[in-house]
Amino acid sequence: MKAIVLVGGMGTRLRPLTWDTPKQMLPLVGTPIIEYVLSALGQQGVTDAVLSLGYLPDRFIEAYPDNVIAGVRVSYAVESEPLGTAGAIRFAAERAKIDETFLVFNGDVLSDLDLGRLLNFHRERRAAASISLHAVEDPSRFGVVPTMPDGQVVAFVEKPAREEAPTNLINAGAYLFEPSVLSRIESGRAVSVERETFPSLAREGALFALADSGYWLDTGTPATFLEATLDVLEGRNGHRGPRPTSIENGSWRHPSAFVSADAVLEHAVVDRDCVVAAHAELHGVILMPGSVVEAGARLNGAIVGPGAVIGAGARLEATCVVGPGERVEAGALLLGS
Ligand code: GDD
Ligand code: MG
Repeated sequence: MKAIVLVGGMGTRLRPLTWDTPKQMLPLVGTPIIEYVLSALGQQGVTDAVLSLGYLPDRFIEAYPDNVIAGVRVSYAVESEPLGTAGAIRFAAERAKIDETFLVFNGDVLSDLDLGRLLNFHRERRAAASISLHAVEDPSRFGVVPTMPDGQVVAFVEKPAREEAPTNLINAGAYLFEPSVLSRIESGRAVSVERETFPSLAREGALFALADSGYWLDTGTPATFLEATLDVLEGRNGHRGPRPTSIENGSWRHPSAFVSADAVLEHAVVDRDCVVAAHAELHGVILMPGSVVEAGARLNGAIVGPGAVIGAGARLEATCVVGPGERVEAGALLLGS
């Protein structure tokens, strides 16, 4: 079965990290997010995926010149302008000549969803499309999906106000589609699967949804990207992603990084060519490749972009994001948002 993986969004909530790196190519404990996503699919028998690209497509294509990511064969469908989530699905399916039941994934989500269970459900219900659901505390950042007891979707409400959300079960960004759905997606303009296609399928009673209680996380904000990092460091991210080696005492460092013996690391990622000087303290911190933390700086819940420098004695609190190549002055105090 073929899978379409949507990775064409602009990653606005992760700016400035995403100005020149697409969200799904950001390193999660040293490995791009997309490799976690495709590894999980490959382990469940998906052999071929179409990456649906739009924003900075070359960053993917150059990183994987052999067209293999985490053991899955990939092809690329590059949009010349953003087609929205449904337009992207139609475009990618046409490119890959998909003519049977297929999978669709939001490429910024880590999960250990059981695909076989979703497929059985989809076939038993003879659904036109089926959605995997996940229960969350605050559904307002997601697509909210109330269903009948048999899983038939009653409505699809994208990002409602918190008090208006009819349930805490949200769209987990993993779908099964029949190819018949493609022809109802208008071509030549941006179409949203969440705001157009799903609501209209729901009205016809052709959309079904099934809750999955496994690991699930959308990595698309600074706070959840940090959360994903801590989950990987602690081995909490389900059982299907890549397992970074050499995690020690809950932290990971690339072999080329220099960490002073007098520095303190607690749940920290210190990537390629980073330098952490004496008496620096990192608690729940991501240092992207080539970044430097000078002596005595204290970081708590921060993401430091590639090549950035944190000056001596500076203090950064959650959730600070320092852009690629930026410099935080010595002694500065930054309180995050
Ligand atoms: N190719 C392409 N073209 N991809 C796109 C486009 C586009 O125009 N727009 C967004 N994407 C990709 C993004 O790169 C991302 O991988 C995925 O589609 C979802 O977009 P996000 O921007 O991350 O959406 P979201 O997180 O706010 O909400 C979506 O995901 C939630 C679950 O994580 C929605 O599908 C919600 O309903 C859902 O609950
Ligand atoms: Mg997202």
